[in-house]
Amino acid sequence: MTDSRLAVIVLAAGAGTRMKSRTAKVLHPLAGVPLVGHVLATARELGPAHVVAVVRHQRDAVAAAIAELMPEALIADQDEVPGTGRAVELGLAALPGDFDGDIVVVSGDVPLLDAVTLAELIEQHRTAAASATVLSAIVDDATGYGRIVRGGDGSLERIVEQKDASDAELAITEINSGTYVFAGASLRTHLPAIGTDNAQGEKYLTDVIGLLRAAGQSVGARPAPDAWLVEGVNDRVQLARAAGRMNAMIVRGWQLAGVTVRDPASTWIDARATLAEDVELLPNTHLEGATTVGAGARIGPDTTLVDCEVGEDAVVTRTQAELAVFGARANVGPWAYIRPGTELAEDGKIGTFVETKNARIGAGSKVPHLSYVGDTTVGEGSNIGAGTITANYDGVAKHRTSVGSHVRTGSHNVFVAPVTIGDGAYTGAGTVVRKDVPPGALAVNQAPQRNVERWVAANRPGTAAAEAAARASAEGSGGAPDGAGAAD
Ligand code: UD1
Ligand code: CA
Repeated sequence: MTDSRLAVIVLAAGAGTRMKSRTAKVLHPLAGVPLVGHVLATARELGPAHVVAVVRHQRDAVAAAIAELMPEALIADQDEVPGTGRAVELGLAALPGDFDGDIVVVSGDVPLLDAVTLAELIEQHRTAAASATVLSAIVDDATGYGRIVRGGDGSLERIVEQKDASDAELAITEINSGTYVFAGASLRTHLPAIGTDNAQGEKYLTDVIGLLRAAGQSVGARPAPDAWLVEGVNDRVQLARAAGRMNAMIVRGWQLAGVTVRDPASTWIDARATLAEDVELLPNTHLEGATTVGAGARIGPDTTLVDCEVGEDAVVTRTQAELAVFGARANVGPWAYIRPGTELAEDGKIGTFVETKNARIGAGSKVPHLSYVGDTTVGEGSNIGAGTITANYDGVAKHRTSVGSHVRTGSHNVFVAPVTIGDGAYTGAGTVVRKDVPPGALAVNQAPQRNVERWVAANRPGTAAAEAAARASAEGSGGAPDGAGAAD
């Protein structure tokens, strides 16, 4: 539902120098979504009529990300005048001139703040008919924050920045979170009066509180239920802390939705991932991007899935996979490397030490052991022998291998693409398949085996091998029996 009397201004123009990064701070990911994306998502939950993002540092990258995350957001460019006051002034200017509802101001680098806390702030603001309501927090260490200065009666008087504070003010443990609700009309009237006569030479948004109060308007501050909700991300230590907290909330949410998480501390689930009931996640599992996992599937341990789709009751063990689809009851790993474009149909298997890429493997088909399968189509019910390589690259271009249904290929084959293996065909162990194999045919191209008798005695006399061979012939044994091909 849209609240036509509500607008949100997201401050995202700051340089974020303490991140020491080529990437703008608000674009650093948290649970797979840029910091500012979390703030925009929270803003959206409030149903505002308008959202304005104020940008400046790395303007184009930040504006492009915001446009993708929230196409309807307005972008306001901050000029050379520094400070949160100037940022909000320009954000206000981007709103329709006749908008006189309430304005929520949030920072693009405070990702954990939730819509419920904001809705309560708006509620208090409206009930009190205030011109400004500040979200504060009680903290152990207030260093760096603006302090909430209250009068003898407990009412909010003003906010003083760390660098401008007296010793008495520095002792205050109630801090300004940088999140506010303002009555739009009051803000428009008083914001232009803010100066830059302070320790940082910036237009402080916080100065508007004192100005409103001096003008006889009602202002208030309300502490957040938990200080960590309003913790900003200014450096990588805080980024990791916020990521841990967000992950803990996401994991807990899925647990309550019916997912078994064996070890929450080592399980990382991105904000956009979705899981069905009775999914089981084993330790050290990472579900990234828009990964979806169907009911009853078991993932892990030691598995990373990026933008994957896992079917019901599938099992994925010790696997790295990206942009892949695994059908119902499919079995993947352990130690599989699944690259983009892999589609394993229901009941299929991609086994141990197998790498796949751009491979469509049909229902019930198996690539069980030690293989590379790329640019390949496999029909249904086929088995690819152990140690198979699809040679898809001729040094210039990539080519496809097409394997039909109910095919049995021998161990240690090379498929030199482009090549097609017909339905129901077989290939012998060690075959280098360069020509198409018709349906139902057996392809073999190994040279007949030649045994050079007594070669070891003649060429490696005195070795352990020669001695073992001598003993064997003395016993009249003919050596090891013929080995069969690998099968599971
Ligand atoms: C501000 C508050 C401080 C509060 C703290 C909470 C002011 C003057 N001070 O501190 O009371 O305790 O937030 O974190 O407001 N930004 C712009 N344009 C600018 C400057 C900042 O868009 O010119 C944005 C930043 O990108 C960031 C937010 O505003 O998202 C806060 O900026 P930051 O520099 O972290 O805040 P401080 O001024 O240190
Ligand atoms: Ca900050």
